[in-house]
Amino acid sequence: MRLGGKVAIVTGAGGGIGSATVRRFAEEGSKVACVDIDGDAIAALVDAITAEGGDAIAIPADVSTREGNRRMVDETVAHFGGLDVLHANAAVQVMGRLEDTPEESWDRLEATNLRGVYLGIAEALPSLREREGGSVIVTASLLGIVGDADMPAYGAMKGGLRALCRSIATAHGPENIRCNTICPGDVDTPMNIDFFEHQADPVAAREEVTRRYPLRRFATPDDVANVAVFLASDEASYISGIDIVVDGGLLARIY
Ligand SMILES: NC(=O)c1ccc[n+]([C@@H]2O[C@H](COP(=O)([O-])OP(=O)(O)OC[C@H]3O[C@@H](n4cnc5c(N)ncnc54)[C@H](O)[C@@H]3O)[C@@H](O)[C@H]2O)c1
Repeated sequence: MRLGGKVAIVTGAGGGIGSATVRRFAEEGSKVACVDIDGDAIAALVDAITAEGGDAIAIPADVSTREGNRRMVDETVAHFGGLDVLHANAAVQVMGRLEDTPEESWDRLEATNLRGVYLGIAEALPSLREREGGSVIVTASLLGIVGDADMPAYGAMKGGLRALCRSIATAHGPENIRCNTICPGDVDTPMNIDFFEHQADPVAAREEVTRRYPLRRFATPDDVANVAVFLASDEASYISGIDIVVDGGLLARIY
């Protein structure tokens, strides 16, 4: 049990990467608080985890609000007695060139994808400190490292998360609190399906993108969840302030 005795919060737990992470955390012995704005999705996930012998609770919350983040930490600590791991993973996606991005879309994206992570970490820090250490994992994106013509706002938030994590790692390393990002390429999840459904020919677009990956496939949610398990575990006890790219080799190629 690589996460035996640990208590974790996973946000966006109702989605593709979040639900896979919850399952892998539970398999490795972690108690897990599943947080999502979609209460039905996390209720079903918790039922499944419990049926498999795991220990999980559902906390429906909007992570773009201070209230949601405060409650997620308070309810986790009240139920499980502490907090060791925060996986800030919830996000929304907005597509469109910069000139076609309304301020409302930018603000909506910023509220969940960037401010939501700042609020989550800020609310979690006192509880992590009480355990004399912990791991903060943030799902950023390959698009926080490289550009995508049609997702400038999304990329800006993801790049901001990488900078935020470096500051958290710097400030809270002396308290044995580590902070890292995971930067996936395309992952087979509802968010990714939604992206391709907005293309003129979704099947052809997906095939064309798949061909660019040296490993010739998209990531599975478990490909990402397995990295989250590692970062949450004591195996990563000296890893802080970095980005782990999970992209099937895409970033390595030029041609
Ligand atoms: N799928 C990909 O190709 C891909 C690639 C790179 C990075 N990512 C990142 O991975 C993370 C997970 O994405 P996914 O692909 O599993 O997407 P997903 O859409 O399957 O899951 C996202 C979850 O976040 C929840 N959520 C959205 N706004 C929320 C809010 N305000 N409060 C609480 N919950 C909220 C949604 O209800 C959903 O369950 C995101 O940060 C995303 O940006 C995804």
